[in-house]
Amino acid sequence: MELHPPPSATPPPGFSVREVVDYDPGLIPFLNELDLLTYAEPTFSRFSLGAFLRHGRVYIARVDDVLVGSCHCLRDFSQPDEVVIFNMALRPGWRGNGMGRHFLERVLDMLRAHGVRAVSLQVAENNMPAQRLYKDKFGFQEVEVHCDEYCNGQDYRQMTLIL
Ligand SMILES: CC(C)(COP(=O)(O)OP(=O)(O)OC[C@H]1O[C@@H](n2cnc3c(N)ncnc32)[C@H](O)[C@@H]1OP(=O)(O)O)[C@@H](O)C(=O)NCCC(=O)NCCS
Repeated sequence: MELHPPPSATPPPGFSVREVVDYDPGLIPFLNELDLLTYAEPTFSRFSLGAFLRHGRVYIARVDDVLVGSCHCLRDFSQPDEVVIFNMALRPGWRGNGMGRHFLERVLDMLRAHGVRAVSLQVAENNMPAQRLYKDKFGFQEVEVHCDEYCNGQDYRQMTLIL
């Protein structure tokens, strides 16, 4: 199996990924809306989004001026050269067409440029598109399954990629 090859197709014209360095509260409504459009229950509040923007690292995908995706990262407190991707999502309508692969590719490149050595994440057991993206396209290795991790009856696969 070929792992982490260059994206097979070019991203759509106007696609770009930006690392949010300066705190920008104007992004909070977009990030909040994307979260509510994506999950059955909110992952974030405006306050936790503010904390991610100030103290974590958020990456934004755009097509021209349209914000189409976000990726929220934290440095692991016990292993500072490791980053946790807490959440990555594209707006409905932009999924399943190769953009996630281009988005993750660029996020990993930027994390690598920060000296990050490993990336870990959790993915819900039933989220096959995301599992395929991480495992098949990028070579994330499953290290553990957390049963009922958030007390919602859902199991999560813990995955890691050495950069
Ligand atoms: C996960 C997500 C970011 C992936 O982005 P995407 O643009 O949809 O994914 P891509 O089109 O780049 O697909 C990459 C691979 O994932 C798999 N995949 C994507 N959509 C799929 C689907 N609907 N069903 C099955 N596999 C799928 C395929 O293996 C695909 O490779 P291929 O194009 O060679 O077939 C996006 O689907 C999303 O926002 N989902 C909702 C939020 C979410 O689940 N986030 C992950 C939380 S850990």
